[in-house]
Amino acid sequence: MKVLGVESSCDETGVALVEADASGVPRLLAHALHSQIDMHQAYGGVVPELASRDHIRRVLPLARQVLSEASCGLQEIDVVAFTRGPGLAGALLVGAGVACALGAALGKPVLGVHHLEGHLLSPFLASDPPEFPFIALLVSGGHTQLMRVDDVGQYELLGETIDDAAGEAFDKSAKMMGLGYPGGPALARLAEFGDATTFELPRPLLHSGNLDFSFAGLKTAVRTQLLKLGSNVCEQDKAHLAASTQQAIVDVLVKKSLAALKATGLKRLVVAGGVGANARLREKLNAECAKRQCRVHYPELALCTDNGAMIALAAAMRLQRGIATAGVDYAFDVRPRWDLAAA
Ligand code: KG4
Ligand code: ZN
Repeated sequence: MKVLGVESSCDETGVALVEADASGVPRLLAHALHSQIDMHQAYGGVVPELASRDHIRRVLPLARQVLSEASCGLQEIDVVAFTRGPGLAGALLVGAGVACALGAALGKPVLGVHHLEGHLLSPFLASDPPEFPFIALLVSGGHTQLMRVDDVGQYELLGETIDDAAGEAFDKSAKMMGLGYPGGPALARLAEFGDATTFELPRPLLHSGNLDFSFAGLKTAVRTQLLKLGSNVCEQDKAHLAASTQQAIVDVLVKKSLAALKATGLKRLVVAGGVGANARLREKLNAECAKRQCRVHYPELALCTDNGAMIALAAAMRLQRGIATAGVDYAFDVRPRWDLAAA
């Protein structure tokens, strides 16, 4: 079974082709991605209308590229999958519309996929895929969640952010420091030149006793610190602040992930979503999990942020298990807000 996946929920257009047997981990045949970062940079964040228009321009050329790289003819596609939500409504509609039009034209079924399920399953495309059950730390631009994952489609939410997501904390702090968009990678790069112990920043909900997160207070603390430093803050102090901010976010993510492993007795952690690319987070998680004889799995670096491969993969894994059926009515809808546990 060959599944073509289309991702267009935010600022990346992704298309990919995976091949799946009746069981076993699906294989990635080809994937192509266009990031809109350069386009949105001038505005300091994603402009939804521009995102939708750019998805329209990119999606078909990317699909052609993927099929050509995989030497796959249009008629060899068995299922067309797309991101149904959550995300920007207009952006989602582009991927859904194209996927359903393609399915209708080819007479092939289509399947809408949950974006976060894509992230969560993306480590299965890595060279050392995880086994169920595991704890998933989902850290994207809009979500920070800890889940117990027993199998595909069996997700129990253990805790989540009550305000900003970890990615948002990176992005908003970076913006205040004048580092541009997307802030996560920019802040992480600057943090390499700073000392994380310079500024004492809050670790919100660190001792809350539950698995929820809160990052809004951290953002305020960064703003206060910047005001204290004044308008001509030197590059070195900025680097110290970047390092201190990153460390505060990482400390909370690591502590809560370890608490989730302990509470469930599970020995396997899967980290997914854009913030999962953060080197300091990986370093600290690896060290702490090794001490506890726990394994940590990450997606390939290139598949940490949004991509079509994770969407094709999630669709294929659902179809393999018979927990989803691809349909031929092509009456698509999208879900800009969508709870994964209810998907
Ligand atoms: O999963 P993703 O690509 O998109 C969403 O579904 O939201 O995640 C994007 C988020 C952004 O907040 C971005 O700043 C953050 O991931 N990010 C990082 C790094 N790379 C991406 N945050 C910290 N360190 C990084 N290296
Ligand atoms: Zn994402």
